[in-house]
Amino acid sequence: MITLTIWACLTWLCQGRPQFPEHERNPSYWNAEAQRRLQHALTTEELNRNVAKNLILFLGDGMGIPTVTAARILKGQLSGQSGEENQLEMDKFPYVALAKTYNTNAQVADSAGTATAFLCGVKANEGTVGVSAAAVRGQCNTTAGNEVTSILKWAKDAGKSVGIVTTTRVNHATPSAAYAHCVDRDWLSDSDMPLEATQAGCKDIALQLFENIPNIDVVMGGGRKYMFPKNTSDVEYPRERRHAGTRRDGRNLVEEWKDRVRNMRGHYVWNRKDFLALNPNNVDYILGLFEPGDLPYNLERNTENDPSLTEMVDFAIKVLKKNPQGFYLLVEGGRIDHGHHEGKAKQALHEAVEMDRAILRAALLTSQHDTLTVVTADHSHVFNFGGYTRRGNPIFGLAPMLSDVDQKPFTSILYGNGPGYKLVNGGRENVSTIDYNQNNYQAQAAVPLRMETHGGEDVAIFSKGPLAHLLHGVKEQNYIPHVMAYAACIGQNKQHCISARNQAPQLPAAPLGQLAVLVLARLLW
Ligand SMILES: *[C@@H]1O[C@H](CO)[C@@H](O)[C@H](O)[C@H]1NC(C)=O
Ligand SMILES: *[C@@H]1O[C@H](CO)[C@@H](O)[C@H](O)[C@H]1NC(C)=O
Ligand SMILES: *[C@@H]1O[C@H](CO)[C@@H](O)[C@H](O)[C@H]1NC(C)=O
Ligand SMILES: [Zn+2]
Repeated sequence: MITLTIWACLTWLCQGRPQFPEHERNPSYWNAEAQRRLQHALTTEELNRNVAKNLILFLGDGMGIPTVTAARILKGQLSGQSGEENQLEMDKFPYVALAKTYNTNAQVADSAGTATAFLCGVKANEGTVGVSAAAVRGQCNTTAGNEVTSILKWAKDAGKSVGIVTTTRVNHATPSAAYAHCVDRDWLSDSDMPLEATQAGCKDIALQLFENIPNIDVVMGGGRKYMFPKNTSDVEYPRERRHAGTRRDGRNLVEEWKDRVRNMRGHYVWNRKDFLALNPNNVDYILGLFEPGDLPYNLERNTENDPSLTEMVDFAIKVLKKNPQGFYLLVEGGRIDHGHHEGKAKQALHEAVEMDRAILRAALLTSQHDTLTVVTADHSHVFNFGGYTRRGNPIFGLAPMLSDVDQKPFTSILYGNGPGYKLVNGGRENVSTIDYNQNNYQAQAAVPLRMETHGGEDVAIFSKGPLAHLLHGVKEQNYIPHVMAYAACIGQNKQHCISARNQAPQLPAAPLGQLAVLVLARLLW
């Protein structure tokens, strides 16, 4: 312990900056802080039992709890704090639960089976979207009869506007469970499918985006190459064959969509400049496909062509909230997962910070009074940070001591497996000889794998707004859309809404109307 302290002092801790703010030495700071939170908890003890006019689900793909904590520290450090005391926007939500993420056939889940759970309300097999566990991955003939529908469809059927915003391809695993029924998440375009499957009548996910739920109001993300005929050169990368269209059926899904919404204030955009030039008040339908594949990591975003997740969420809500019957919006911070798979913790954490900014933007555009917002993850990763780092230690920095086995330094962030496993001269790499702060540094892993894997532990569910308190305790992941639908009086369970609906149809129209609804709600619930 003494050597540890001396060593730490020699490195950076004793060089100027105190380890923690002076006021934290004083018990009155901690007591006053806790008492203030207690008062706040007591005043918000009254449950919000309004009908949720709007529903927003923020899904951090792969955003396990260690990722949330590390992103909190990173965001704090980006604003000059030590970081640990910082509060993410999601941290400010009043209710938290844990979700059990396993798939019906997998202890450690994938994003397709989990998306079916938190969008369709039914646990499913890994690799499948919008079908029950009776369907078998890759077997087209197990699709028919096993389709399950999503909360996005329940909302659309109830007259709400609906949207999907993601940083991945719009037909990637998470968003696809909102509209597709597909036994294989990899059937992104018809050219990704076995011929037997297309011949047997199974449809690729891109096609289902446009055919299953007519006119999803907002669709934004990446994935252009799945929408255009094979060999059609891409508008942004005309010379790169790998970005060209892929469709074997020769269909141009974007042109077909444009024809359909031509007289309905519909707009297709593929770059940020044209996107930001649109006025959401004049747009009722938007299809934004900003890349042939996934959007770039936010740290490497080309601000000419690619909007941030926050910009897309801002626009989406402004379009959707014009519907007096409200909306359902799925937002995916989809590349947190990719950063981790590549062992690039810095990319992953910056993606999580960007999603948190989008959560703040959504909070500014909606009210907790009538909007149920849920933030969760589909699954975790084998990412962690530790090593007895001192307060304020840079989140991408080193533990304060050397390994007492190989006498080499180590980063606080490490992976259980992944591409960061590396031997130099037969031993673990000495991280002091390399730049472990660079954006694409791959943190050390215990087991070599080309792609780091998902983790199996529970993930957090943060919630605020009407009936958010029903999301508490340890729950199966498929519970989430059941609560969201119940709160909004859509889907399979709305007996509790009939009387409220008949007597108070417009929520919240005017202050007087709001008051009436509040009084009614008090009487009825
Ligand atoms: C379904 O298709 C698979 C091949 O994908 C085949 O092995 C199986 O026999 C088929 N089942 C039925 C009932 O046709
Ligand atoms: C696409 O281009 C490749 C290479 O130029 C060519 O072999 C192929 O026939 C083309 N396919 C179509 C559908 O035009
Ligand atoms: C690790 O690298 C640093 C910086 O080059 C060097 O000072 C240190 O001696 C190295 N440690 C080992 C165990 O090789
Ligand atoms: Zn993944």
